[in-house]
Amino acid sequence: MKISARSTPNIALIKYWGNRNDGLRLPAADSLSMTLDSPCISATVEASDHFSVQSFDERGTENPQNEKSIARLKKHWELTRNYLDTINRIDGMPDAVSIVIRSEIPPAIGIASSAAVFSCLSEAHAGFVSLTREEISILARLGSGSAARSVFGGFVTLENTGGTDIGSAHARQVAPETHWQLHDVIIVPSREQKKVGSTEGHAMASTSPLFKERITQIPRRMQECTDAITKKDFEKLQHVSEEDSLDMHHVMEKQNPPLKYLSEETRRIIREIEALRKSDHLEVLYTMDAGPTVHLICTDEALKAINDFADVQKGCIVFRAKVGGGSTLV
Ligand code: DP6
Repeated sequence: MKISARSTPNIALIKYWGNRNDGLRLPAADSLSMTLDSPCISATVEASDHFSVQSFDERGTENPQNEKSIARLKKHWELTRNYLDTINRIDGMPDAVSIVIRSEIPPAIGIASSAAVFSCLSEAHAGFVSLTREEISILARLGSGSAARSVFGGFVTLENTGGTDIGSAHARQVAPETHWQLHDVIIVPSREQKKVGSTEGHAMASTSPLFKERITQIPRRMQECTDAITKKDFEKLQHVSEEDSLDMHHVMEKQNPPLKYLSEETRRIIREIEALRKSDHLEVLYTMDAGPTVHLICTDEALKAINDFADVQKGCIVFRAKVGGGSTLV
């Protein structure tokens, strides 16, 4: 039996940074994101006598995975089986699988390809047994914390349910993609591979003297962000998500070793967007994940002006997405 699924990245409005259990990716605090409608990852999974992975880019050229990435995918498969065992759903699951991944996402450009990959694979694995959306989200989290959120469409939280076992955090939809049509104009100033990835970064988050304070601020920010989404209050969403993104980068910069993901180009884009939204009264906000890429989230009304802004950014790659529907079987 072959099972195929597709998924997309998400962009966090309240960021996930730091775990209370790194091995199981149990987050230290809640986070909230918007699932995107593109770029897309698809995967086909088939029972096999040994675990294998093949990966292709959008042109169909094989893109061989490095050892570290194969080890991560294998670990995810093992954790998937462990979790299904704990909930008595292991029957019907093959002992090993061969995985074929097709990706439209250029690697390491700062748009969460691991979120799309692990949500996609979890959706496909769940095709062997029947699971709830929450259980699929737990499977996705075991590969990449933020992947838990791409299992759902629209506006999604990753919530700590407080326990310490493997199933102790899953995503939940706050509002579907039809609720509020927001766009994400993604400006990528650099295609340089980042030196330190999120996994290593999360593990050192608690070495930052600002981390404890960040954790105490998250419940208020989550509430404000949820309210802003429910009421479609863009100004409120802008204030809380920019506060949170900048705060996460302050925490990162004070970690040991320090993580400096934002570049001079990032800071220039932020300054120019702040000036443009003031002069033209635009509903646009900026947010940055673990890289220099700037996500400009905006309303329908602001889209043309933001697209025009993106088009004149020299030396940058631009991706355009909008709120999307989350992972599905195909
Ligand atoms: C800064 O989910 O990429 O993008 O579990 O190691 O894959 P891993 O981490 P990851 O962390 C996301 C960090 C972030 C913020 C966010 O998406 O919430």
